[in-house]
Amino acid sequence: MSKPVLVLNGPNLGRLGRREPQIYGTTTHGDLAARLIEYGRELGLDVEVRQTDSEERMIGWIHQAADDRIPVVINPAAWSHYNIAIADALAQVEAPCIEVHISNIATREEFRHHSVVSAHVTGTIAGLGLKGYELALAWLATV
Ligand code: DQA
Repeated sequence: MSKPVLVLNGPNLGRLGRREPQIYGTTTHGDLAARLIEYGRELGLDVEVRQTDSEERMIGWIHQAADDRIPVVINPAAWSHYNIAIADALAQVEAPCIEVHISNIATREEFRHHSVVSAHVTGTIAGLGLKGYELALAWLATV
């Protein structure tokens, strides 16, 4: 049986492909999701990709991952920089959890340099574009 993994994308990531393509690229969220599901299948992972602009919905998904002990790949987007409720929810996840940022947040505006989420995840990948999600899945397949 393949191992379930939740890929959770936060606000504005549903607009990938149209949103600041010079930073986030031209691939749409739908194309990213299809690519991750397919790559996950090759790795023996049952990948589900979700995106929301709603904090309440995202916290519910993280609680589900915590209760069901499902590994998580999360790009909390702007929430990374200030949202303690998202950080508190991630603190409850005992399964491996990878934070992904498409851009290198350390080289952008100062308000993006700190992530309040990073202290509650297993590891962080930033600045490697959409490949970062694939690298996170490849690592999850090994643990
Ligand atoms: C982001 C970086 C965040 O600073 C920004 O708010 C995002 C996307 C990234 O993937 O590079 O929405 O998380």
